Amino acid sequence: MPGLFGESLAFGGDYNPEQWDPAVWQEDDTLMRRAGVNLATVGVFSWALLEPEPGRYEFAWLDDQLDRLHANGVRVDLATPTASPPPWFTLAHPEAMPVTADGVRLTHGSRDTYCLAAPAYRRAAVGIATALAERYGAHPAVVMWHVHNEYATICHCEQSAAAFRRWLRARHGGLDALNWAWGTAFWSQRYTAWEQVGTPRATQWHHNPGQTLDFSRFWSDLALDAYREQRDAVRARSDRPVTTNLMLPGYQNLDLWAFGREVDFVGIDHYPDAPGADSHADIAFGADRARSFGGGKPWLLIEQGSNTVYRPGLTLPREPGDILRSSLGHIARGSDGALFFQWRQSRAGAEMWHSAMVPHAGPDTRIFREVEQTGAALARLGELAGSTVSAPQVAVLWDADAWWALTAAGKPSAELDYLGTVRRAHRMVWDAGVTVAFAHPEDDLSGYRAVLAPSLYLVSDVGADSLRRYAEGGGTLLVQYFSGVVDSRHQVRTGGHPGAFRELLGLRVEEHRPLAPGAVAELSDGSSGTVWSEDLRAEGAEVLASYLGGAVGGKPGGALAGKPAVTRHRFGAGSGWYLSTRLDDAGYAALLARVLAEAGVEPTVPGQPAGVDAVRRHSGSLSWLFVLNHGETPARLPTVRGQELLTGTAVPAGGLTVAPGGVAVVREPVSSA
Ligand code: GLA
Repeated sequence: MPGLFGESLAFGGDYNPEQWDPAVWQEDDTLMRRAGVNLATVGVFSWALLEPEPGRYEFAWLDDQLDRLHANGVRVDLATPTASPPPWFTLAHPEAMPVTADGVRLTHGSRDTYCLAAPAYRRAAVGIATALAERYGAHPAVVMWHVHNEYATICHCEQSAAAFRRWLRARHGGLDALNWAWGTAFWSQRYTAWEQVGTPRATQWHHNPGQTLDFSRFWSDLALDAYREQRDAVRARSDRPVTTNLMLPGYQNLDLWAFGREVDFVGIDHYPDAPGADSHADIAFGADRARSFGGGKPWLLIEQGSNTVYRPGLTLPREPGDILRSSLGHIARGSDGALFFQWRQSRAGAEMWHSAMVPHAGPDTRIFREVEQTGAALARLGELAGSTVSAPQVAVLWDADAWWALTAAGKPSAELDYLGTVRRAHRMVWDAGVTVAFAHPEDDLSGYRAVLAPSLYLVSDVGADSLRRYAEGGGTLLVQYFSGVVDSRHQVRTGGHPGAFRELLGLRVEEHRPLAPGAVAELSDGSSGTVWSEDLRAEGAEVLASYLGGAVGGKPGGALAGKPAVTRHRFGAGSGWYLSTRLDDAGYAALLARVLAEAGVEPTVPGQPAGVDAVRRHSGSLSWLFVLNHGETPARLPTVRGQELLTGTAVPAGGLTVAPGGVAVVREPVSSA
């Protein structure tokens, strides 16, 4: 099966020729050829140029750019420019500017200043998308559509509040049901008329957690509606695939599973926030999610930085070799290519210091040489287009509702961190050399040997049943602390925690006992926990480790002394493991090793050395093994055989050796079995 881009992997990035003049365009043509660029994302922030006044379009410059790119062999990912409305729009429609939770109405001056609930914005957005699709729907350069850019802005204006009320009526029916779901008997919040219900604007102390959860769901649905509206306008005029670039950030404003169902293929932007091996673990975390959210659809890395790691207040450079290694980290996990933000580093504007494929210093630079090297490498991997990642045996559960709910104020510990906990579980399995998929709790999980539920604070009744069926049918499930405790309305499942999983796990938690910062709970197996502990009673589960203490300092004799900390319960043909604290790294790795061993999960390559990332893609009888060495010593994999595609040489009889920081892509011998 061909890939998204036929027999090739995509290589290129955001291209903003409107920031430059014809002499630079000529150089762009030359440098793109040199670098092997074959895809450019055009028009993401071009609304003010394309529609200089309402309803009057200026397409001549874009015609020229698309024709030029096409003549140069560069395909186009054409964006609808709706993430940044022009200044005239702001003046004409002040009511379409977003209002913050504090009630401040924002104005033009940056980007992403729009309210998705404002009819004027929605009309204008569909208008420009329609005009573009009419003009370029069949343009030979255009191979995909990129609707909008990173849906992110949230608004608390009156139009948003009215749309929220409509959404709530559809979800809950009447006000009585809403009052019940949100528990408005508490703090005298009972609503007696719909007009009283608003968005969670700034208030005196904690918001109602049912309200904040529903607002997050509503906003994600609204963003999806806005996406669908543009997608459908484009689809009516073009047969090229349509997607949007989803940001995978540390905040959460979209249900990415829902977006995955509506896009023709998944597109993500990914910017690691830590250097070194952590950045590669984060690439795997992002890429595994991107692949999973589409449920089997292709996916594409639409943006990465060439040379940047963002930390708060500091942009760190990346190390030599990282451009290729990072790109292959995504491609190994199924991306149909590797694109960057952006082709040429801007000389002006808010992101003039953001890295690019052609830096300010020009092509005579390490960065551009590495870009050329990466383009050449990807050109050698065209045979991989259309192949898929070989079925992962381990799934980590991901649920937007659980994240949103856990974010509500008033939790017993501020250290209960959805993203951090899920990321850590993924990292541990990554460290063990095992490829991970993400799954929604309501999915059919029977294809996975092991499923991890690291931070499933909220689980719906359907999700709880699904996990029960999974374990009963022979699966190995690991549930971690403070999971399964509230239902989909964000109400506690009473009678002992974790209400959704007591029977499956064969236990009952009477009391949550968060640990103070710095406090350590020692466990009987030599491991230790921080952040959290629980007063747990086994009701059928086998105790694998118990608390020696549990009081501050973790001294034996605390309230938890001798009580279970880690358990395993045989359930049907499978098992439910439970971990009631945040284990130290070594203890957590050892527990996961036991869980994976019981489930019969093996690393991608037997005996895979630490620091080596190995992932397999396949297509029919062919398979390719990606080996990325993130370690500081040469990695030897004696069992690997085949043809290494980047060097075009056969793997020697003694196996594959990959230098520190090096990469290899091996077409494996077709098995005769
Ligand atoms: C995002 C945006 C780009 C650019 C990059 C770099 O991913 O989509 O327009 O701003 O970040 O910051």
